Amino acid sequence: MTQASTTASGKFISFEGIDGAGKSTHIGFVADFLRARGKSVVSSREPGGTAVGEKLRALLLHETMHLETETLLMFASRREHMAQVIEPALARGDWVISDRFTDASFAYQGGGRGLDRAKMEALEQWVHPQLQPALTLLFDVPLDVARARLDATRTLDKFEQEKQDFFAACRNEYLRRAAQFPERIVVVDSTRSIAETRATLGAILEKLL
Ligand code: TYD
Repeated sequence: MTQASTTASGKFISFEGIDGAGKSTHIGFVADFLRARGKSVVSSREPGGTAVGEKLRALLLHETMHLETETLLMFASRREHMAQVIEPALARGDWVISDRFTDASFAYQGGGRGLDRAKMEALEQWVHPQLQPALTLLFDVPLDVARARLDATRTLDKFEQEKQDFFAACRNEYLRRAAQFPERIVVVDSTRSIAETRATLGAILEKLL
């Protein structure tokens, strides 16, 4: 192996999808895949990923609040995550994988709840003007599949209790963004078996290495 390939710097990968789309199932696989190829990987999540961010997450997932408060707290959590986790890790040359990032704000607060997209764009410019994920894996399933998975696996939080219309709007916004940013966002059909999805993920990741 050449020196250049072993010293290549780390990349930032985000995971997205509506609740129940199956992204959580695949995050550990991606971390293991990268580590098996000698990468140092930091695995994190939003909202959360830091001590302050996890406190914000508890509020965000369980308290009802004004839509703009919710959006600002999502970006406050993200600002802390940038400062404490993402930027230091990338500066060290580590890979960062985050269970959700700014696309989730566009999908949930924008698509799902109807906040003006320009407000999210302004916050995005404020919180991470320079940084976008190198790759965003968008796990996509029809709404009825997502709902069945949620109902089978967990006690539902504030977002997961939303109606199908809400998730339809979130999913539409995710897919709209995937069409807008095709060089970054890859849509992964998550209705298939875990093994099939893993094979697809492996092929996508090989191209990034
Ligand atoms: P999720 O990532 O699905 O975690 P879990 O594995 O515990 O289900 O939960 C996070 C929730 O937060 C999810 O419903 C989407 C929501 N969310 C937003 O609404 N906006 C955001 O910017 C982010 C990061 C998450």
